[in-house]
Amino acid sequence: MASTKTTTKSTTKAKTTKSAEVKTKKTTKKLPEIKVIKKKKIVFLGSEAAPFIATGGLADVLGSLPKALAKNKDLDVSVILPLYSSINQEFRAKFKFLTDFKVSVGWRLQYAGVFYYEYQGVKFYFIDNEYYFKREGNIYGFYDDGERFAYFSRAALDTLSRLDIYPDVLHCNDWQTAAAIIYLKGMYYGDEKFNKIKTVFTIHNIEYQGKFDMFTFGDLFGFSDTLREKVEFDGMVNLMKGAIEMSDIVSTVSPTYAEEIKTPFFAHGLDGIINRNAQKVYGILNGIDVDYYNPKTDKYLFANYTDKDLSGKAVCKAELQKMLNLPVRGDVPIIAIISRLVSHKGLDIVKAAIEDLLTQDVQVVILGKGEIGYENYFTHLSHCYGGKCVTVIAFNQDLSRKIYSGADIFLMPSKMEPCGLSQMIASRYGTVPVVRETGGLNDSIKAYTGVKGNGFTFHDYNAHDMLYVINEAIRTFKDKEKWLDVQNRAMTTDFSWKVQAGEYEKLYNK
Ligand code: GLC
Repeated sequence: MASTKTTTKSTTKAKTTKSAEVKTKKTTKKLPEIKVIKKKKIVFLGSEAAPFIATGGLADVLGSLPKALAKNKDLDVSVILPLYSSINQEFRAKFKFLTDFKVSVGWRLQYAGVFYYEYQGVKFYFIDNEYYFKREGNIYGFYDDGERFAYFSRAALDTLSRLDIYPDVLHCNDWQTAAAIIYLKGMYYGDEKFNKIKTVFTIHNIEYQGKFDMFTFGDLFGFSDTLREKVEFDGMVNLMKGAIEMSDIVSTVSPTYAEEIKTPFFAHGLDGIINRNAQKVYGILNGIDVDYYNPKTDKYLFANYTDKDLSGKAVCKAELQKMLNLPVRGDVPIIAIISRLVSHKGLDIVKAAIEDLLTQDVQVVILGKGEIGYENYFTHLSHCYGGKCVTVIAFNQDLSRKIYSGADIFLMPSKMEPCGLSQMIASRYGTVPVVRETGGLNDSIKAYTGVKGNGFTFHDYNAHDMLYVINEAIRTFKDKEKWLDVQNRAMTTDFSWKVQAGEYEKLYNK
């Protein structure tokens, strides 16, 4: 009925001017109500984020998860970082100064400047204080790390109020930003705007908890006495424990690790605390930035390639062998380790089995830095097995990409691995992972059976089990058709943030 009426009207009025019609509509009809959708504000706090400052997996995550979330137009995503002097000058030149103020660190009053830079849809805020962040060499490992990150956590909260950017969710990562949750829930709650903020605390590795002498409780952190029960553990200040107790939600970086940290072997003392808070503990597997790690476009590679055309990967392998002084042979498998050289990466079982492995027709390439004992051992090994084994003691982006692309098998036998990103990167470059079934390795790599699976896995932390599975990978490597199949399954596994970022959104909505 209505439509007939309109048609009649429009035909009879066809010759009258359109604007007249519009005018009548304007005066007689009510304008539709415009719904203003308020964006949900998420602020991340962390001690490193790629590409500004990166020493480990945390930087990859804080460089890629916020970017993936910011693609959702309903979210407004920011990251607050320390302004380390080692942040590249090219970036620093683009940062804009916003404001400065004083921050309490126990009885001290310290300067804080705030710089701003928008990058890939994410708002980055940098906290400037040269006394704390202008240091030579590393960004961690100083005698006053506790004070540096107590300062940073507090300065970050004060930035929220100074700039009036109170978020719906404050998402803190690892012990360095755990204190922000303790301050927020334990000392800032009197302020209504702070009181409304919900918190997520993500554990990237439960081994590093931020433990300090009890003397620092008041003197350094300036915690009020009522917080003692939440923050104290084993007679010490334990920032991670405090954040687990006080945060609205706790997450870790894989579902398997979320279960593992309920047990003493994995929890470094905090299993009781995790169990007590189990109802708010979630495990979400990390993703990687698949644009950044892409063999089709990666500028570091000798040649580019895709899962459909692997000819470039053969070039990468030959060039890598040339570069490392290894015999240039396509038929010999290159087994690679790219890792921090620390004990929880499973290097004890590598040590126990590697000479057995080297008796075979293989090439082994090791890239990493870490404990001096391992550095010396693997360097010595490469001297003993010249032409078969190469060790490079370094943390080197360029060389790592050349190894990810040029190798055939990627070995990652970690004793513990909250998530692990290297196995995902290796997969993306068609280098098939051999992993131990723990943490995120267990959630990302499934044993190849001939019809499914994207790598090779073993369960027990045992050198012979590992060797057995490496040999299975080598046998498969020699069967061209099967190898192409498992390689393709590795390369086409979706490790992007597409799905996982959605899991975080679900957490934020809780
Ligand atoms: C830590 C963990 C590693 C994880 C990374 C990012 O470095 O040890 O397993 O992938 O954080 O979450």
